[in-house]
Amino acid sequence: MVTSLEHLSCFGDFKGKAMDQEDRSPLKHFVLAKKKIGDVFEQLLNYVQEGSQFVKDTCYNDSLEHIANGDQLEEIEAYTSKLAVIKEVLARRHMKVAFFGRTSNGKSTVINAMLHDRVMPSGIGHTTNCFLSVEGTDEDRAYLKTEGSEEEKSIKTVNQLAHALHMDESLDAGCLVKVFWPKTKCALLRDDLVLMDSPGTDVTTQLDSWIDKFCLDADVFVLVANSESTLMNTEKHFFHKVNERLSKPNIFILNNRWDASASEPEYMEDVRKQHMDRCVNFLVEELKVVDWQQAPNHIFFVSAKEVLNSRMQRAQGMPESGGALAEGFQERLKEFQSFERTFEECISQSAVKTKFEQHTIRAKQITESVKDIMDQINIAAAEKRVASLEEREYLMDRLEFVRNQLNLLIEDIKKKIKMVSEQVASQVSNAMAEEICRLSVLIDEFRADFHPSLHVLKIYKSELLNHVEKGMGKNLAFRCSDAVNASVQSSQKEMIECLQPLLPPDVQSQIHMLIPSRKFDLSYDLNCATLCADFQENIEFQFSLGWTALVSRFLGPANAKRALMLVDQNLQLTRPSATTPGNGAIVQAPPSNQSQAVMNQEELMMSMIANLASITSRTSMSVVIVGGVVWRMIGWRVIALSMSLYGLVYLFERLTWTTKAKERALKKQFVDYATEKLQMIVSFTSSNCSHQVQQEIASTFARLCQQVDITQRDLENEISRLTTKIQQLETVQSSSKALRHKATDLERQLESFTSQYLQPQN
Ligand code: GTP
Ligand code: MG
Repeated sequence: MVTSLEHLSCFGDFKGKAMDQEDRSPLKHFVLAKKKIGDVFEQLLNYVQEGSQFVKDTCYNDSLEHIANGDQLEEIEAYTSKLAVIKEVLARRHMKVAFFGRTSNGKSTVINAMLHDRVMPSGIGHTTNCFLSVEGTDEDRAYLKTEGSEEEKSIKTVNQLAHALHMDESLDAGCLVKVFWPKTKCALLRDDLVLMDSPGTDVTTQLDSWIDKFCLDADVFVLVANSESTLMNTEKHFFHKVNERLSKPNIFILNNRWDASASEPEYMEDVRKQHMDRCVNFLVEELKVVDWQQAPNHIFFVSAKEVLNSRMQRAQGMPESGGALAEGFQERLKEFQSFERTFEECISQSAVKTKFEQHTIRAKQITESVKDIMDQINIAAAEKRVASLEEREYLMDRLEFVRNQLNLLIEDIKKKIKMVSEQVASQVSNAMAEEICRLSVLIDEFRADFHPSLHVLKIYKSELLNHVEKGMGKNLAFRCSDAVNASVQSSQKEMIECLQPLLPPDVQSQIHMLIPSRKFDLSYDLNCATLCADFQENIEFQFSLGWTALVSRFLGPANAKRALMLVDQNLQLTRPSATTPGNGAIVQAPPSNQSQAVMNQEELMMSMIANLASITSRTSMSVVIVGGVVWRMIGWRVIALSMSLYGLVYLFERLTWTTKAKERALKKQFVDYATEKLQMIVSFTSSNCSHQVQQEIASTFARLCQQVDITQRDLENEISRLTTKIQQLETVQSSSKALRHKATDLERQLESFTSQYLQPQN
């Protein structure tokens, strides 16, 4: 037996021709279709992956408010995995032809003839003991794989293969052994064709399991019959079963061993007709897989052995007809070639349809669904974008309104604050003026222990100051507080009413939180203690007709005081030890100021002289004249009476100069003193009060403004958030649109694939 590798060396010449044939081979139809649909699925998978990522990004982007939902994501992700699986399946797709027939009919020989090489073991008797498939490999060595094992067992010769198969006891008729044969050696295997040899249909009882296992994905079935006998029931039975499981399987019938007819040429036509009729009847009537017209095209009369031999001889460079060829070989060869071509056309057309049609339809459905998802997202994004644009427009208007309104209100409120504070200033100053007028009443009301002693006097005065401070404060509060409080509150209320529409919504509902809960109280803060700190009372007894009083009357209180001080100093200069304790009215000049005292003495003397001179000049003459007249008229009695009257008056005054009188004098002096001092601080106090009011209203206003600022900031934030969202939505829209276009493009490609490969060609 000639081994395949032995004649590999002389394969070259044949290969060139085979390549030519291959280029025209109808099997290319399947190969091209597979490549094309593979490309489309590759693109489709990439597209759906891209789309899935897009949906995922859109779905998980919270700011887009779920334009894409979880269902869509789930759907598109499911498509991704489905497409990946289909793509894998498509890549492994091939055309498969299965050969069946009784033992020794020549199934293995037919396969070898088609492969132009002795690949399958063949021979007399039951040779093929399990299912054997042959497919091409890109490697340049042949190997086999047994079922359930990934081990690649190298084979060099058919003998080895046969031996390996026979040695493997684990193999039975229902097993599959895959033979991988170098594509370089065999043109037919380059085009994704798998040929499957089987044990004879007569050697098994497990037809059903064979069909399930080996026939469901077969594109073409070849029944290798023996033309020396007739179609047997076992063969028919098998194809009936196949026909039950598959709808209209493609079946070819090869009446093999037709070379035998050459020995009996006289019966040849009859026998051929008889076989033809039976076969046609089987296909048309029994199996109903083809019609009467088509049936003869599926039935051939061939001699595989002859074809194989001649092809192998040719491959070895020997003449085809080198061996003893029976008569009619050329016709049988032609018929075999015709079978090959018809089979190739049939299997490629059929395989393209059965292997790709369903997936193409599925791909169209997936593309359609993805397109729908993109449309949904596009529409949702467009709607959201329009809504967001409207919302942003509204917010921008509102921000503009708030800004303008606030500027207007600030001016108004400034004016208002100014007005209210001025009003308060005038109220307070009026009230104070009135209170100062009523000061004597207030001081009269004061009761405390009084004694001229220094210590008691000090306490008395401090309590008096306290009394005045409190009393004035109380009276002022009584006069002003309610009115001031009312105007403060009304202006606060007015302010809130004006600003309320500009406040943040949550603050609007709790507006009362912005108004101070305490009642506004003016603090008048007269600070009498400091104000009247240098008050000095004079409660020494003073005879109203006495020296001091008279001097005061003549010189005015200021000069009198200084004069009296001088007199006192003179006394002290002459009698330095003589002091006048208890007489607070006389302030001792410090000894170091003697020169000052001398100057003052001179000034005083001058003023006394001037006064006396003026009196003297104007009255002395009249007094002397009047005195002389009076003396003469009334005499010494009157003078004595006058003197005693003077004494009485002195005595009366001296006796009535009690503690009570001293207190009264002090109070009176204090009234005068405090009146003067308080009048000085009227404007200060009123402006202080007006300042307080201003502060109070301004602080409420500031709080409100703060809230308005929050409104503005919130609005600005919201506007910028919407701007970002709108941009994102625009991106989503354009992406979904682009993805939709891609889907349309893929649909076009699928459509063109359908029309080119799947629709019946006219
Ligand atoms: P199993 O594998 O046992 O089922 O048989 P098979 O159908 O594979 O038959 P195989 O190809 O092994 O052929 C059996 C015998 O028939 C071999 O000796 C072949 O040489 C011979 N044979 C095959 N085809 C022809 C043919 O067309 N004419 C003649 N004369 N002999 C043939
Ligand atoms: Mg065989």
